[in-house]
Amino acid sequence: MEGRISKVSGPAVVASNMHDAHMYDMVKVGHLGLVGEIVRLDEDKATIQVYEDTSGIGIGEPVLNTGNALLVELGPGLLTSIYDGIQRPLHDIANASGDFIGRGIYIPGLPREKKWSFKPTVKPGTHLTGGDILGTIQETPAFTHKIMLPPDMEGTVSEIKEGEFTVEETIGHLETGEALHLMQTWPSRLGRPYAEKLGSNVPMITGQRILDTLFPVTDGGTAIVPGGFGTGKTVVEHTLAKFANTDIIIYVGCGERGNEMTELIYEFPKLEDPRTGLPLMNRTVLIANTSNMPVAAREASIYTGITMAEYYRDMGYKVGILADSTSRWAEALREMSSRLAEMPGEEGYPPYLATKLANYYERSGRVVCLGSDKRVGSVTVISAISPPGGDFSEPVTQASMRVAGALWALDASLAHARHFPAINWKRSYSLYYEHLKDWFKENVSEDWFEVREEAMALLQREAELQEVAQLVGVDALPDPERLIMEIGRCLREDYLRQSAFHEVDCFCKPSKQYEMLKIILLYHKACQEGLEKGISLEKMLKHPIRAELARLKEVPDDRFDAVISDLTKRIQSELGE
Ligand SMILES: Nc1ncnc2c1ncn2[C@@H]1O[C@H](COP(=O)(O)OP(=O)(O)OP(=O)(O)O)[C@@H](O)[C@H]1O
Ligand SMILES: [Mg+2]
Repeated sequence: MEGRISKVSGPAVVASNMHDAHMYDMVKVGHLGLVGEIVRLDEDKATIQVYEDTSGIGIGEPVLNTGNALLVELGPGLLTSIYDGIQRPLHDIANASGDFIGRGIYIPGLPREKKWSFKPTVKPGTHLTGGDILGTIQETPAFTHKIMLPPDMEGTVSEIKEGEFTVEETIGHLETGEALHLMQTWPSRLGRPYAEKLGSNVPMITGQRILDTLFPVTDGGTAIVPGGFGTGKTVVEHTLAKFANTDIIIYVGCGERGNEMTELIYEFPKLEDPRTGLPLMNRTVLIANTSNMPVAAREASIYTGITMAEYYRDMGYKVGILADSTSRWAEALREMSSRLAEMPGEEGYPPYLATKLANYYERSGRVVCLGSDKRVGSVTVISAISPPGGDFSEPVTQASMRVAGALWALDASLAHARHFPAINWKRSYSLYYEHLKDWFKENVSEDWFEVREEAMALLQREAELQEVAQLVGVDALPDPERLIMEIGRCLREDYLRQSAFHEVDCFCKPSKQYEMLKIILLYHKACQEGLEKGISLEKMLKHPIRAELARLKEVPDDRFDAVISDLTKRIQSELGE
């Protein structure tokens, strides 16, 4: 039976006579058949969140219930794609930056014509359970896509074919008669199943010194990057997309300025993957929400994104989902809520903002995937937040801080001083640090922890001394304290500061981070000893070694060890003379 529209309020439509409907059923609204989702049910009355522009839609028009949830298509062809919030491909920039896709037009998420070369890895007679791998496809030049049995299927293979197939063609059968395909679907609001969640004691390596050394995030962890206008949120997200050690990136752009997404759609595909020299898009799915797309689609976008992330995780890959910025998503939620005439909570956001955010972050994690081979995959969630006026006390930042494991707090005064990444080391934190100590000990150095703690203590000491110096002047401080101030400056400017655009400095591997930190501490010790021997502080600070320390970050990896060992010797021999 068809329903009838009884009310239209922007993206919110109410329909009556919807007897057999369920929550989150996907419906087609009006004569145009606009895509929508049921978000509230009251007897035969359904409130529908519509993902397309509803202007011109009138009362009395029909509403058709498809009886299915809104599904994400998962299979080869996701990588390199650019989608809107409900997985409609944005083929050209006109769609992306200007008008949205023609209304009521169904465009499948995965290309239907393209043939993929499928190589089975199972034989007839093999018994399979959900998640087991059927075979592989070279999805892009450097990425092997594993075709999995959907989570809810089980049975013995009766037939499996090698060859060229589209995502809809049958690649084989189970003995039950069920057909096997390259594509599967999944409702975006439901987390995909896994066998077991693992504790997180492995870091995601970012190559960014302030992150890896001071505030690391685990592989499968969550981090938030709140920052006011122009403080470097987008650069952080792009840098992680390029350099973090993930296999796959799902990038969800939620722009407020119209041209911000146009920039993303133009610029992102030009980024090069530093590992392969190929376009970064070869291991990326881009979801772009422009300000002129319907708000409901923006609200849906992070679920579409995280479902794709979980799908690649299920193959046993490390996936990063980067959202820039979740504030725009929360604003979409707020607008939808007010259209639905819900009771507003703090600052007009719906009271369930925190729950929704928590549900999203909970879909992160390092897991043993479904399937008999016990492969491990992960989804790491990194979200930028744009609090109005850079004020972290607002609801979206506060709700996110309660659930995220790491906070990388961007700071307008650092950005203003062009200290990038403008992450404030006094306000930022990582709750993962304790769990990662052993990994750094085993993989970088026995004394990683001590070295890091000593550097952190020096930074704190410098901050205290700066306050004193403001009152009495630097010259009034005794030499050992002036030395600490100089070492603090060295740590800030020559260690924490890192250019995302310098060809060497853009990525700093953990062993280089350790060596750099260690030699700064050695320099501190040598200067302390010099002072004890009566050598003047000025003389030691003017020694060329100080400038060489500052240039260390730009020394390429192939020369780095030689430079470090030379510098170590000279600090020990020349400084104290
Ligand atoms: N790590 C970095 N290294 C060098 N420059 C940086 C770095 N981070 C940010 N910048 C500089 O700061 C500028 C603004 O950064 P970005 O666009 O990332 O800010 P944003 O917080 O995303 O701004 P908006 O609020 O407009 O979205 C960049 O164009 C760049 O010049
Ligand atoms: Mg930005």
